Amino acid sequence: MCGIVGYVGSKQAQDVVVEGLRRLEYRGYDSAGVALAHEGSIASEKRAGKLANLERAIAEHPLPASTTGIGHTRWATHGAPNDVNAHPHLGAEGRLAVVHNGIIENFAQLRTELEAAGHALKSETDTEVAAHLLELEVVAGHDLTDAMQRVCQRLKGAFTLVALDGKDPSRVVAARRNSPLVVGLGEGENFLGSDVAAFIDHTREALELGQDQIVTITADDVQIIGFDGTPAMGKQYHVDWDITAAEKDGHDWFMRKEIFEQPRAVADSLLGRRNASGLLELDEMRLDDSELRDIDRIIIIAAGTSYYAGMVAKYAIEHWTRVSVEVELASEFRYRDPILTRSTLVVAISQSGETADTLQAIRHARTQRSKVLSICNTNGSTIPRESDGVIYTYAGPEIGVASTKGYVTQLVACYLLALYLAQVKGTFFGDEIHHVMDQLDEIPQHIESVLAEADQIYKIAREHVDATSVLFLGRHAGYPVALEGALKLKELAYIHAEGFAAGEIKHGPIALIEPGLPVFCIVPPRGRDHLHDKMLSGIQEVRTRGARTICLAELDDETIAPYADTLIGLPKVPVLLQPLVAVIPLQLFACELATVMGHDVDQPRNLAKSVTVE
Ligand code: F6R
Repeated sequence: MCGIVGYVGSKQAQDVVVEGLRRLEYRGYDSAGVALAHEGSIASEKRAGKLANLERAIAEHPLPASTTGIGHTRWATHGAPNDVNAHPHLGAEGRLAVVHNGIIENFAQLRTELEAAGHALKSETDTEVAAHLLELEVVAGHDLTDAMQRVCQRLKGAFTLVALDGKDPSRVVAARRNSPLVVGLGEGENFLGSDVAAFIDHTREALELGQDQIVTITADDVQIIGFDGTPAMGKQYHVDWDITAAEKDGHDWFMRKEIFEQPRAVADSLLGRRNASGLLELDEMRLDDSELRDIDRIIIIAAGTSYYAGMVAKYAIEHWTRVSVEVELASEFRYRDPILTRSTLVVAISQSGETADTLQAIRHARTQRSKVLSICNTNGSTIPRESDGVIYTYAGPEIGVASTKGYVTQLVACYLLALYLAQVKGTFFGDEIHHVMDQLDEIPQHIESVLAEADQIYKIAREHVDATSVLFLGRHAGYPVALEGALKLKELAYIHAEGFAAGEIKHGPIALIEPGLPVFCIVPPRGRDHLHDKMLSGIQEVRTRGARTICLAELDDETIAPYADTLIGLPKVPVLLQPLVAVIPLQLFACELATVMGHDVDQPRNLAKSVTVE
């Protein structure tokens, strides 16, 4: 949610900043802007809409050469997404430029104060207030670092601010509170970014910042202090992916590339999880076995697609460990005053590690003395840093706004957690864990086999270009997959889509069925539990009322053909692991349908990748 870039070095700052913004555009694409230090003042350009609009404007009216600059790509909160509200914002004298991610909660009061002192603010944003305040401080004689410290003490809310003083091109200064910011460490140059993608072209060495810290970068140095002025150290780490992972690699969309990366992402997320004696080991767990043994209740908190991964986790954890699991939307969690104890384990699932709803939920859990374990794809992000333990997923950078490989690797981490708890609690014996791990190890191959049939799914998608509503039905672990299939379609194709537990439709939603309505049906594998046959009844119920059924079922399941208008074959896997393969055709369907409808698949309207406001 908003992408921020800062640079000081010897290269042309405009090129570095715009390239960084391109890599961060998935975080918001309502507007983009850049500011450079030039001859004692600021040269800047900003435009509503995607980065391409800014690039066109810069091509028409080139900015002067400069080796110090900042940039921003916006997901609008305060103020409409237009040129005026685009960042950077300048102080009253045009000497100082600021970009911002987050929300300054007391901005109205600060704005009134500034206006009373004769300041004319041009935009409706909360950011411009910070620009004016900072400039007042530097004009009064404080250097930019001191000015930032003084201003931060007055701001309430969540913010990353990055500021540039035209009269001091040697430095860029940033502050962070509850909003992401990392430093990129170069040779004779340093970088700031909302995430490492901003500078991955230039360096893979990064520095993690803590909460309420101010960082000053110059070409040769990085200095960190707390908001109270106390010197602080960042935590340095090496980024384990490179620039090629952030390219489309011949695909039309990042999302399509990321769908096809899933076999590798699953394999990487499973790698090295068993020790020589076959026992599961989760390196970054940081919770010891005796603490885990005492856990008698688990609450999973997450948002969107990650929430649906949490729903699958409930089935696996309860089945394998007999520990009761609740799954809750992060945005609802702390507001209902949840009952938490020392023996409650809170599991936060977040691809980005920055989702504000999830972050606030884990903070609440920790104030209630519950242990928090996070499942996260982003090293150095806030949620794992504030958790007692973490299971990292190894999807690599996910740039398409709609989560795909992020989701399947979250599922893998959920299974690993479930198996690990079973191992610790002794509800599962060693060879049973081995058996499930072996089945998980086969998943990359199974996903490959589903991907090999992508053309069939694309054809089905093209046949649905006029659909105005699509339903998804599933049972057991297939139910969250139905919800995920519907979410993918809503966010990418802007079509009304809903997922239901198949057993539930007869209690109301069946009234929606009308002739020709496409209904995806995720059929559980055949087993002893009658799930499969119950699903078959659900399919018959909608089909007799005219629905067009698209059934996802095991390849050799001949019982489905009579009830399927279209049949998509799935590899044979146990019901608990089926989400890992069943979600793939639904991702391909949504991606292709949105493509033929002419939508921007990587940057769907109104969305942003990491939602850092509540
Ligand atoms: C949907 C999607 C979102 C995210 C949600 C949580 O495709 O990507 O629903 O899953 O915003 O994001 P994270 O996992 O980063 O906390």
